[in-house]
Amino acid sequence: MSQSLLFVCLGNICRSPIFEYVSRFHLGDRMHVQSAGILDAHRGEGADARAVAIALSRGYDMRLHRAMPIESLDLDLFDLILPMDRRTMQYLRSHLPVKVHHRLQLVMNLAGSPAEEVVDPYYGSQEDFVRVIDQAERLVQALRHV
Ligand code: 4NP
Repeated sequence: MSQSLLFVCLGNICRSPIFEYVSRFHLGDRMHVQSAGILDAHRGEGADARAVAIALSRGYDMRLHRAMPIESLDLDLFDLILPMDRRTMQYLRSHLPVKVHHRLQLVMNLAGSPAEEVVDPYYGSQEDFVRVIDQAERLVQALRHV
């Protein structure tokens, strides 16, 4: 199955880029993956330095990432739009056209865990970033069997 996935978080500098780069590393030959934020504040910035360092230590090079707000993307290119948490889901439900709502689901639902959120690590510790990478790898494991 060839699918196109869009991961969405608040700033597009921590969580959704981690999901993008971990997924591309493992599944890039089978899926198109991209990420975006709901904030415009970080447009053009690289990923958060903590995210880049921890991802690199796990073998994922995110140094080329540049943050992008979701409003810059053509959503028709994506089969699934995957917010990291309920707050982001609510924002997308109230700001995106109704015609794309059926493509929205919480990202960890795809890993068989419908209530699980990917918690924002921005004000957190190194462990919080590690948890995000662990969750992205669990998603990849689940998608490998799709
Ligand atoms: P992300 O993390 O949504 O995982 O990229 C954040 C990035 C920036 C901010 C908050 C969370 N911020 O408040 O600027």
